[in-house]
Amino acid sequence: MKIFLDTAAIDDIRTAARWGVLDGVTTNPSLFAKVGGSYDEVLKEICAITPGPVSAEVVAQDVEGMLREGRHFAALADNIVVKVPMSENGLEAISRLAGEGVKTNCTLIFSANQGLLAAKAGASLLSPFVGRLDDINESGMTVIRELATIVRIHELRSEVLVASIRHPRHVTEAALAGAHIATVPLKVLRQMVRHPLTDSGTLQFRRDWAAAQTANDRSSVAEPAAIGAGVRS
Ligand code: G3P
Repeated sequence: MKIFLDTAAIDDIRTAARWGVLDGVTTNPSLFAKVGGSYDEVLKEICAITPGPVSAEVVAQDVEGMLREGRHFAALADNIVVKVPMSENGLEAISRLAGEGVKTNCTLIFSANQGLLAAKAGASLLSPFVGRLDDINESGMTVIRELATIVRIHELRSEVLVASIRHPRHVTEAALAGAHIATVPLKVLRQMVRHPLTDSGTLQFRRDWAAAQTANDRSSVAEPAAIGAGVRS
């Protein structure tokens, strides 16, 4: 399964890229609002350091506005994917951008049917929000399983990108559900790396190694003395 970073923060992206686990980045107006500056400049910098697709989200509500913003983002870099929220106008914009060869990511998906429609409109990526469904006592992972199964059974060309991920278990369950991509905040990526037994095991190995070195040092100090004693006697 591919791992994307869900952020507009350049330092976070550089960190995940250094670990060799980064396949792409997703941004949105809320994530961009946390970093500020020019969205175009931030996007260009992200695209330059990301080994994969970078999603940039339109905010217009009308089709012509979405197309204008989408074409503008697509011209910024080759790895830009235009993020379009699910709506009737959104489906039309996705279909027309797909017709122009512009890759799109349909976002704010909360049901398998919304995902199915976005795939049929030509969206390259489908972004169901698992955390926000869980927040309202619905099962976000049920929607992921349903959509991933529909895409697989009907051989739809879109990829399921699980978004609004809140904890590492969401990533495991998304992978088991057959999702193609998980987009995570750096905090969750760091949690995925950690395990208390890894920490304690690493500590024990280091302690044992240090003890072995000390024992060796002691025996190497003792040896010349022993050899000396042997010569004298
Ligand atoms: O990609 C969508 C994501 O940023 C939303 O996350 O945690 O606000 O539901 P959250």
